[in-house]
Amino acid sequence: MIVNKKRLIVAACALIASAVMAVSWAAAEKTTETKLSADAKAEAKIMGVLDDLYKEKYGIWKVTPEDGRLLRILAETMGAKKVVEIGTSNGCSALWFCLALRTTGGKLITHEIDDYRASLARANFKRTGVDHLITLVEGDAHKTVSNIKGPIDILFLDADKTGNLDYLNKLLPLVRPGGLILAHNTTDQADDMKDYIKAVTTNPNLETIFLHKHDQGLALTLKKRCADSSM
Ligand SMILES: C[S@@+](CC[C@H](N)C(=O)[O-])C[C@H]1O[C@@H](n2cnc3c(N)ncnc32)[C@H](O)[C@@H]1O
Repeated sequence: MIVNKKRLIVAACALIASAVMAVSWAAAEKTTETKLSADAKAEAKIMGVLDDLYKEKYGIWKVTPEDGRLLRILAETMGAKKVVEIGTSNGCSALWFCLALRTTGGKLITHEIDDYRASLARANFKRTGVDHLITLVEGDAHKTVSNIKGPIDILFLDADKTGNLDYLNKLLPLVRPGGLILAHNTTDQADDMKDYIKAVTTNPNLETIFLHKHDQGLALTLKKRCADSSM
């Protein structure tokens, strides 16, 4: 009789334990689902704004969607924490970066000389809900970059192409080894950046490839090591 009672108690305990586990699993699954759908919604919001920007008729400069997707993939796969952009325009490429930075926990510092385009970018960042990820610095980036602190994971050059070599000279020391320097328009504006292209293809501490040659073009440069690391 006593043995039966004990068995009954053990069985009841096991039943209660499995019920509790089932409830916690269901709760955990629900939390993951809620998180996933919140994440998908936030991403869809950014994509929606990008779609609108690509539909606009007036000619504001921006990366192509294919180049934009590449920026996002690079930033997300390398877990970028600090991206520096030169040339914000109305914020398209910044939004592509933000798709990655939302998940990497990173931040973007972007630079724009033109008041009007900077104001469009600010509005787009706000509308997308990513303004907390971005610092927009207004003014001539040749001067304003002197305030940037490293380490930089990705440096994206997309402003005055003849100024790329100056940006590289000023910012390369802040790019971490293993970091990337991306220069846009290396196909359609190659003539304006001959000195930059020469620099990134002859420096032994850098490894460069040219992508999307059929289109605007993008030079992708890996900083392999610091200039003085061999000493
Ligand atoms: C090609 S657009 C940038 C496009 C943007 N990256 C995108 O894909 O959405 C170049 C931008 O660089 C800005 N720019 C040009 N010279 C600059 C400078 N010295 N300092 C900061 N911004 C500059 C221009 O005003 C312009 O908005």
